[in-house]
Amino acid sequence: MFHVILSKRVNTRLFKSITFMDIIVGGATGLVGQEILEVLEEMSPQVTHVIPAASERSVGKHITFRGQSVPVVSFARAADSGAQVAIFSAGSDVSRKWAKEFSKKGITVIDNSSAWRMDPEVPLVVPEVNAHHIQKEHKIIANPNCSTIQMVVALAPLHKDLGIKRVVVSTYQSVSGSGLAGIDQLEAERNGKAVQAPAYPHPIDKNALPHGGNFTDNNYTSEEIKLIDETRKILDEPQMAITSTVVRIPVTGGHSESVNIEFEKPFSQENIKKILSSATNIKIEDDPKNNFYPMPVHIRKSNFTHVGRIRRDFSVDNGINLWIVADNLRKGAATNAVQILNYILDKQA
Ligand SMILES: NC(=O)c1ccc[n+]([C@@H]2O[C@H](COP(=O)([O-])OP(=O)(O)OC[C@H]3O[C@@H](n4cnc5c(N)ncnc54)[C@H](OP(=O)(O)O)[C@@H]3O)[C@@H](O)[C@H]2O)c1
Repeated sequence: MFHVILSKRVNTRLFKSITFMDIIVGGATGLVGQEILEVLEEMSPQVTHVIPAASERSVGKHITFRGQSVPVVSFARAADSGAQVAIFSAGSDVSRKWAKEFSKKGITVIDNSSAWRMDPEVPLVVPEVNAHHIQKEHKIIANPNCSTIQMVVALAPLHKDLGIKRVVVSTYQSVSGSGLAGIDQLEAERNGKAVQAPAYPHPIDKNALPHGGNFTDNNYTSEEIKLIDETRKILDEPQMAITSTVVRIPVTGGHSESVNIEFEKPFSQENIKKILSSATNIKIEDDPKNNFYPMPVHIRKSNFTHVGRIRRDFSVDNGINLWIVADNLRKGAATNAVQILNYILDKQA
């Protein structure tokens, strides 16, 4: 099967004249990897074949892509496949080990891990906001953290028109943000089973953990620092005032965020709605009288960023509160990565 795929491979630069190509999906057996396969089927008709890569544990297993059963290979084998683009979602250690190796072989890597995000040589991209950061010479392109992506999709158009002075964000993140391990822990606890390899230091069911990633020296968690640093990098605002609290809750999919923003300029509430509703890939869901606002249960498989509970913060001059919800496996990971892929394929064509 692998040979069949290779024999059909085409140079992506010829993509305009030849209508099929293959893409390496590193981490294809994981939560994000599975979602990437699905989003490629939906959003990248030109990608007709994939080379799925994962750990040695999965080599020889099969994934399904466009109705075909495809064998999983090692990263080493995928690196020599001759494909020209890879999307990685196999964690930071794997990305640190393999991204440069792949790029030396001429493969452009779109990386979902945090390994390269803050590298000044690597663009950190949310296509609706800063696709222009991608230049021809970039062989590694970083996908931001899931919570960062959904927040900057809403912040960017508001910043452009009103100038952001300060952001205070608190997240309510689902367990799927911690990969299969997070889902396994929640399901084991709900079913009264022993948790084999816990994703969290405490029970997650019926709980709220103010703890995402590892604690740093300043008592923030690594996930909180990512939200701050990545937002500044994407918006080209290295000094932007932002503070964050990351909380994990017993929801299987979909991250929610309470975001308080202070602007330089005055605004009307209608103005905020107008800016957000004309921005790309944002859905306004804001009809509180009819109990209508975004919720994780409603946005699974959505590629949009959903915004509601839009209301003035009366404690400051130019403040607003937003409730922002997105599917962390879609816009927070797979959809954003595939949008980057489509952008670079369009540029190459
Ligand atoms: N979950 C989210 O919402 C989200 C959002 C944005 C970004 N991300 C990032 O995406 C990455 C994957 O997350 P996930 O949630 O999909 O995790 P996951 O469900 O645990 O999947 C991990 C994937 O990585 C592979 N892998 C693990 N160790 C490996 C190794 N040593 N060599 C090769 N492959 C290896 C696994 O293969 P096996 O099946 O063979 O073990 C699996 O395919 C992480 O960097 C994460 O930070 C996740």
